[in-house]
Formats: sequence, C-alpha cells, structure tokens
Amino acid sequence: MFPIIYLQRVSTMMCMKSKKIALIMGDGIGKEVIPEAKQILLTIANHTDHRFDFLEIPAGGEVWKETGQSITDASFEKLRTVDAIVLGALGIPGLPQGVAEYAVLKIRQEFNQYVNLRPIFLYEPLRDICPLKDEFIGDGINMFILRENSEGIYSKIGGKVQDRATIDTMIFTELGVKRILEFAFEFAHKKNHTRICSVDKANLLYTSTMWRSMFKELGEKYPNLEKKSYYIDAFCQWLIRAPYQFQTVVSSNMFGDIISDEAAFLAGSLGMVASANLNPSPNGISMFEPIHGSAPDIAGDNIANPIASILSIGLMMELVFADSYIGEILHHSIASVLETHRTPDIYPKIKEKPKVKKVTTQEMGKLIQNIVSNELRK
Ligand code: IPM
Ligand code: MG
Repeated sequence: MFPIIYLQRVSTMMCMKSKKIALIMGDGIGKEVIPEAKQILLTIANHTDHRFDFLEIPAGGEVWKETGQSITDASFEKLRTVDAIVLGALGIPGLPQGVAEYAVLKIRQEFNQYVNLRPIFLYEPLRDICPLKDEFIGDGINMFILRENSEGIYSKIGGKVQDRATIDTMIFTELGVKRILEFAFEFAHKKNHTRICSVDKANLLYTSTMWRSMFKELGEKYPNLEKKSYYIDAFCQWLIRAPYQFQTVVSSNMFGDIISDEAAFLAGSLGMVASANLNPSPNGISMFEPIHGSAPDIAGDNIANPIASILSIGLMMELVFADSYIGEILHHSIASVLETHRTPDIYPKIKEKPKVKKVTTQEMGKLIQNIVSNELRK
C-alpha cells in the first residue's frame, strides 16, 4: 500500500558499520527541514543497529557570495568520502540565475547519479488537500516518476550565439537513454507493476524519436508489462484527468523535472515529495533531497513542511542501506500524524473550523519522531 521500493531487502540487524552521511542544508528552508531529517536519523540510530556519522557541508547561494562557487572544491572532495548525501535546497534571491543551483547539478553529474526517483503518493488524510475532485483521484495516487538525471537539455552546452540569440543543446546518448530505461523496466518489474509509461515529444524532437524507439525495443523483454508512450503535452493532461492509472513513469531530464512538480500537487504539496538521485552501481554515491526549493518567501518562519525531507531519509535507508522496514515505519508514522496535524501548506482551506491542528516545522518533525521512536521500540 505504501510506496516502498523493495529493490533490496536486508534485515535491520545486519548493518553494524557506521555510515558517513553528508548533510547539505543549503539555503532558505533547507536549513529548517534538514535538521528534522537529522533528528529522524538520530532516532533510528537510537533504536536500531544503524550508526551514522554526520559531515556538514556548506553549499548554495550564501557560499557562492563568499567564495564565488556554490560548493567549494574542498567541500566537493569531501563528498567523495561519504556513503550518502542528504541535501535541503539551494538558492537565495538576488544572485545571477542558476549559480546557487549549480552545486546540485554538479553533484548529480560528477557522481553519475543518472536516475532520479520521485515517488508521488497521496496519503489518505490528504484527499481533502489534493486539488482534484474525488472522482479524479479514484482509488488513490501512487506513482513513481523516474527521471533521466544526467543529460538531455541539462548539458550546459550552448550560450549566446549572437547579440539576440541563445542556444541550449539537448543531448541524448544511447548509453544514457538505455540505462535509465533499463532501470525503469526493472523497477516496474520488481514492484509488480502492471503498467509502465514513457513521456516524450516524439512528434517533434529527434532525441525523443530515439527515446521512443529504445523504449519499445527494450520493453520487449517485459511481455507482462503494459507499455505506453505519451507525448508530454498529452501526459500533463492525463496526469490530472486520471492520475490513478499511472504506476511507473519514465521520462527525460527536463520533462521529468516538469511533470514531477505537477504531480507533487496531487500529493498535496511540494513539501510531500522526496527524491533519490541514484548511482545504482555498488560503490556509487547517491543523494537524497526533497523536491521543493529553498522558498525564500517563508524561510526563517518555521512553517516549512519537513515531510519531504523525512521521506528522503526513508528512500536512503531503503536504497543505500538496504533497510526498507525503516521506510515503512516512516510512512505509517507520517500517515498517522497527518490525521491530526498539518503544516500550513497542507492545512485545509475551508470555511468551517478544520479538525486538524496547524503546526510548525519543528512540531511536525517532533510528532513524527515520537511515533517512529515508539514503533521502533516495539
Ligand atoms: C529539481 C530542481 C533542479 C532541476 C534545479 C534546482 C536545477 O528543479 O531538482 O527538480 O531542475 O533539476
Ligand atoms: Mg524541479
């Protein structure tokens, strides 16, 4: 029922070695939500055999202002020594466009994190927050967006070509497309999904034509999966018309970026969606982050939703430390807290007095932590 990935399953008791976790809080609300994620890790360490060493790494807009780099070379080198990275959000107002965010793109590319997994799950208590009417929600929303995370329009090849003309280059390599599609098919297969859909713009783009034909060809190995290709425009429409039909969704870098923000609102808020930037090779270093940004408009107000960051910890425990039980506990705990307590982004906007209580970032973190602690103690 809950969006557990089940790529690997190993008992909690086998993981004795201390794991080194880089914590990049970044800017804005990153500094508020990551401490809540850290508290959850400390709670896990309290009640299981997992042990964590934390390495705080500065990155983002403030760092760019001081050093001219959004992550310094020395900080970046330290990331090579960790078992996993947890990142908050990057960006402050008033900087040249993209300079703060550059750090996240550098980490994804240098560590070859070519898969970006974004589970979109509507918790039952949040049906009242989902902007869709009940008939469009159907039996519920539980889909996994797999976004290609290393190439496409994110190549950074281009620039100003003349006074009034600029170019961005979209690159799809056969290797890049093959590895994300193969990952997606395997993922859908292991999850026992019945359907997989691919999103492209093959009626216009050469890159998409290649993507679509490779999706068709590689899909032949999975006769039991129903495979469907959508054009991005049509997919955006179906995403709000019948989101319950989607299970595994695979797409290129930019389309995945766009559809995951749209889909996040089906889960109630950007504050409800976690992501895993994965390098699936055995020694790969992966990064876990909420999909929301640094939200300067609410930074410092203690009202940001920490759930996406806490869910990122669930993804890390499952995908890097092979313990999906922790992810399951986190989901149950969050589901239970949502029955009674909400941060402002998921607080009901209705005329009569809501039955749930509005809470701060820290209160939400603490409520989840308490249940996790009780559950793990059992
Ligand atoms: C995301 C973000 C990033 C992206 C930005 C910050 C570069 O929007 O993780 O979805 O486009 O990948
Ligand atoms: Mg995005």
